Amino acid sequence: MRVFVAGGTGAIGGHAIPALLEAGHEVTALARTPDKAAALKAQGARPVKASLFDREALTPVLAGHDAVVNLATAIPSMDRFMNAEALRTAYRVRSEGSAALADAALAAGVGRMVQESVSMVYHDQGAAWIDEGSPVDDYPMTRGNFAAEASARRFARTGGGAGVVLRFGWFYGPGAAHSEQLFAMARHHVGMVLGRPGGYVSSIHMADAGSAVAAALEAPAGTYNVVDDEPLTKRAYSFALSQAAGATAWVRGPGRAAYLFGDRLTSLTRSLRVANGRFRAAAGWAPRHRSAREGWLATARVLGR
Ligand SMILES: NC(=O)c1ccc[n+]([C@@H]2O[C@H](COP(=O)([O-])OP(=O)(O)OC[C@H]3O[C@@H](n4cnc5c(N)ncnc54)[C@H](OP(=O)(O)O)[C@@H]3O)[C@@H](O)[C@H]2O)c1
Repeated sequence: MRVFVAGGTGAIGGHAIPALLEAGHEVTALARTPDKAAALKAQGARPVKASLFDREALTPVLAGHDAVVNLATAIPSMDRFMNAEALRTAYRVRSEGSAALADAALAAGVGRMVQESVSMVYHDQGAAWIDEGSPVDDYPMTRGNFAAEASARRFARTGGGAGVVLRFGWFYGPGAAHSEQLFAMARHHVGMVLGRPGGYVSSIHMADAGSAVAAALEAPAGTYNVVDDEPLTKRAYSFALSQAAGATAWVRGPGRAAYLFGDRLTSLTRSLRVANGRFRAAAGWAPRHRSAREGWLATARVLGR
């Protein structure tokens, strides 16, 4: 297939583009700067420059492609996570960016749209398993993701072909800025637990997220959870991280105190025990790192202790 990727220069893109190329696809990807264009070329993809918000400019760029994959996101770094301006930008990339891309894909006759979303959209279900039919919540952090999902569904509904939404778990692994910061904290004996220690976190190693993007090109239209096989409790997740970092956590927090930060952190404080069965069955995909225990050990080998 000829595949167009927006957001291919980010953390997931660094794994998704090689996975797409390895599967035999031809890849074109958006590059905003010359150094990003050079990095894409070095990977074997063809870089193009166009604004994510400019449907007229995107339409000729998308012509001739069989699929468009939207990984563009602007989630603020940990130090700017509470910054209102940064959150507005993040919302715009998810909402207006995905809408322009869907319009351009429709105009260019592209047959498939794969849209990145997150599994933090689900309602807290305690220890109960969550599948794609489970209730979702409307709170500030989810709105951009719902807008992006709606773009992919509108693309499918209005004659564009297959719309595939991937609801990823909490990313971790080399290249994911948040998780590299968490790893550095773990090496300094600080264990991060957001929300109830007995609540669940559903994670996904970046490499498995990349292979899921390639597998999504073969999956039937629909919404899929892309998480590893064994969600851990937050206590167990933090323990797995400190073990991988080789440093016992002397301080673990903030735990329940994280709720004081209000709804901007709700995506990370809730308990989400998310199941991946639908995507495993539909796409023939399986994560290489079945839980964060194995995945953090593999990550530590790359990042070094
Ligand atoms: N589920 C989760 O846990 C979750 C969800 C979302 C994000 N995150 C965090 O975010 C990262 C995840 O990786 P990611 O690949 O989703 O994010 P990322 O590394 O921040 O990459 C974002 C991609 O979107 C592009 N982009 C941003 N604004 C754009 C705009 N205005 N126009 C066009 N392209 C734009 C970026 O381009 P440039 O390279 O030019 O900047 C980049 O290609 C990790 O650091 C992770 O910790 C986590």
